[in-house]
Amino acid sequence: MSELRLLETIHPTKEGEHDFEALFGIDAIKESLADELALILDRKRLDDWGKRHHSGGLGILNITKGTLPLILLSGDVGCGKTALASCIATPVARAIDQRIVCLETPSDIRGGGHVGELSSRVTDAFTQAKSRAAAVGRAILVIDEADDLATGRSQMQAHHEDRAGVNVLIKQINQLSASPAPIALIMITNRPDVLDPAVLRRAALRLNFQRPNEAARFAVFQRLLHGTSTTETQLQELVKLTVKKPQYTFSDLTDRIARLALRRCWKANQPFGVAALKAAIAEIEPSPLMAAS
Ligand SMILES: Nc1ncnc2c1ncn2[C@@H]1O[C@H](COP(=O)(O)OP(=O)(O)OP(=O)(O)O)[C@@H](O)[C@H]1O
Ligand SMILES: [Mg+2]
Repeated sequence: MSELRLLETIHPTKEGEHDFEALFGIDAIKESLADELALILDRKRLDDWGKRHHSGGLGILNITKGTLPLILLSGDVGCGKTALASCIATPVARAIDQRIVCLETPSDIRGGGHVGELSSRVTDAFTQAKSRAAAVGRAILVIDEADDLATGRSQMQAHHEDRAGVNVLIKQINQLSASPAPIALIMITNRPDVLDPAVLRRAALRLNFQRPNEAARFAVFQRLLHGTSTTETQLQELVKLTVKKPQYTFSDLTDRIARLALRRCWKANQPFGVAALKAAIAEIEPSPLMAAS
């Protein structure tokens, strides 16, 4: 069986700060995620707040002690779920003034399909997270494409390996709040509907990512065209031109449309600008919606 290698970064980092700033139009999601992570990873802050305002004790603080540190990021493709999970540790580390180790599972989390391999790799991911959290002080474990792992036990063709894997995952999630060094678990999926209900209900926070609306598209174009002499009216024109059904995803705008425009301007040795973006918009269709399961 192959060894499980988690991608590790210790935050804050310069790249984390840059990547976090480069994600726009999702400010409310960024704030909720950062606040929840700060609460999970810096237990003392909440205790101090409780003592300050409710010296005789506070019911909710006793009840939420058992809340599991699981956060679910769901929603459409290409809308920043993976990108945000990879860099969120930096603003949180700054906010709580402590280092955070971020561990991301590889895309082959399931391994090679040997008997018992899935369960042992899931256990391994949590064991490594506990050990690194103890060494650094606190950790965020990110399980991307979680539907690969946590598909409902009743929905699948009930393969024994898969069921055993989900059982182990739930057991590991249950044990997370007992870890002496705090660990937050972020699970990412664009198919929350197929996740096992027992996993879903354990999420203390669920954040849903959507394709950019008008205000977010305005922000995207403003950012893309920073450094050119584009007017507000031209930005509004681009926003109108990108009204589509289904809507464009963030990555359609940044990775496909803007990249095509950039390539063309570079090749023609001309400055980048609105005209190049308009031409690219006319050629590129929005990514299709995820098929319902
Ligand atoms: N909110 C955003 N602001 C700016 N760029 C974004 C945003 N969301 C996504 N992007 C761009 O799209 C790319 C892909 O995003 P990401 O991989 O995070 O999508 P995802 O939501 O995880 O999609 P999938 O469900 O397909 O895995 C990013 O690297 C970035 O270039
Ligand atoms: Mg992703």
